[in-house]
Amino acid sequence: GQDNADYLISRIRSIPGFPKEGINFRDFMPVLADAKAFGLMLDALEQALPVPADEFDAIAGLEARGFLFGPALAARLGKGFIAVRKAGKLPPETIGESYALEYGTATIEIESGMVAPGERVLIVDDLIATGGTAKAAADLIRRAGGEVAGFSFVMELIGLDGLAVLGDVPSSTLVTMP
Ligand code: PRP
Ligand code: HPA
Repeated sequence: GQDNADYLISRIRSIPGFPKEGINFRDFMPVLADAKAFGLMLDALEQALPVPADEFDAIAGLEARGFLFGPALAARLGKGFIAVRKAGKLPPETIGESYALEYGTATIEIESGMVAPGERVLIVDDLIATGGTAKAAADLIRRAGGEVAGFSFVMELIGLDGLAVLGDVPSSTLVTMP
């Protein structure tokens, strides 16, 4: 209910000017540090799934913060977890995708063979800002032979229209903030 939503939101910390001027950094680490909030967040993600759990086979999480709860959600749902890493961390062979960030650029990678042909993948991350990261992850999953079933985010930064770049794929967001 509303009390649970308020409690979860109360654990999100905002840091104006980090990592650079003009960014109001939304930090969900305090959610994870608080057992009640962490549980509520997982409950809410499970309840808000953009497609029913039987319509995807695996969860892909984005380094670093998608690694902090993606595996927990996957375990709850009886799914495998696919790690989408920042470039240079995984052994060969890898498939990579470069993208622009709200503050900088980056390349993400998965190990070849990690996505089965036609595997339906739910992509999870803590936050969508411009949508560049999530879009790159989706392109990567598709190039690896998978299908993107949906996206689950904890937070959406409004005003950046990040969801618009994701195309016609269902998504869910627990909390929207400026
Ligand atoms: C943040 C966040 C998302 C991404 C969102 O990660 O966790 O992955 O940015 O931004 P976008 O929608 O504009 O692409 P960051 O790249 O800062 O890396 P980290 O998780 O390793 O801290
Ligand atoms: N907060 C946290 N992570 C982010 C942000 C933000 O405002 N923008 C891009 N990644």
